[in-house]
Amino acid sequence: MKNDPLSMAGLVHDLNNVFQTLVGVAMQLEENPESAELAATVLRSVERGQRIATGMQNGNASSADFAAILDRAEGFLTDFQAAARGPAVRIARSVDPGIELDGQWAWERVLINLFLNSGRAMPGGGTICVTARNGRQGVEIVVADEGSGIAEEVREHLFEPHVSAHGSTGLGLNIVRSIVLANGGEIRAG
Ligand SMILES: Nc1ncnc2c1ncn2[C@@H]1O[C@H](COP(=O)(O)OP(=O)(O)OP(=O)(O)O)[C@@H](O)[C@H]1O
Ligand SMILES: [Mg+2]
Repeated sequence: MKNDPLSMAGLVHDLNNVFQTLVGVAMQLEENPESAELAATVLRSVERGQRIATGMQNGNASSADFAAILDRAEGFLTDFQAAARGPAVRIARSVDPGIELDGQWAWERVLINLFLNSGRAMPGGGTICVTARNGRQGVEIVVADEGSGIAEEVREHLFEPHVSAHGSTGLGLNIVRSIVLANGGEIRAG
């Protein structure tokens, strides 16, 4: 139902009001040189939110090089950790050139959800290793961290909604799996 106010278009419309408020806050922060960097972080986050919302509405159609998608997800992780005053989490990458992925905004969401999980799994900071290979059967992407691994109690239902070991919404990996499957891929936890 195209004109249903509870549809995706309605959701995006109302989210845009939230984004507009945040842009206003960022512009006020910008007036003080001491908070200029904070203002830039808020504006980058708003742009990411707008990309996700627009991607939802337009079906995430456009393609991009994996390295560029990774750059954006890494930028988000850096901002997220800084805003949370969290420890430094760095990304080490080994990426084959020329990996082009359809649905670039959806793949950005996949990486961001995996990175946020890895960040939480390394409370003292650490490194997330990302490898991407152009193999015979397609592209293989691996995200690995230096945390203590996935707890046994969540492993069996890991990709199902509302499974969380720390009282969060437990939706991140369900979103990740949905996007991977919608793009004809497979996913597993190592
Ligand atoms: N990199 C990881 N290392 C260790 N455990 C992980 C990792 N990624 C996910 N998990 C475990 O899997 C659970 C489910 O992850 P998922 O991303 O779906 O939900 P969440 O992170 O708990 O909540 P949300 O993503 O909605 O904020 C987590 O609660 C955590 O216990
Ligand atoms: Mg998560």
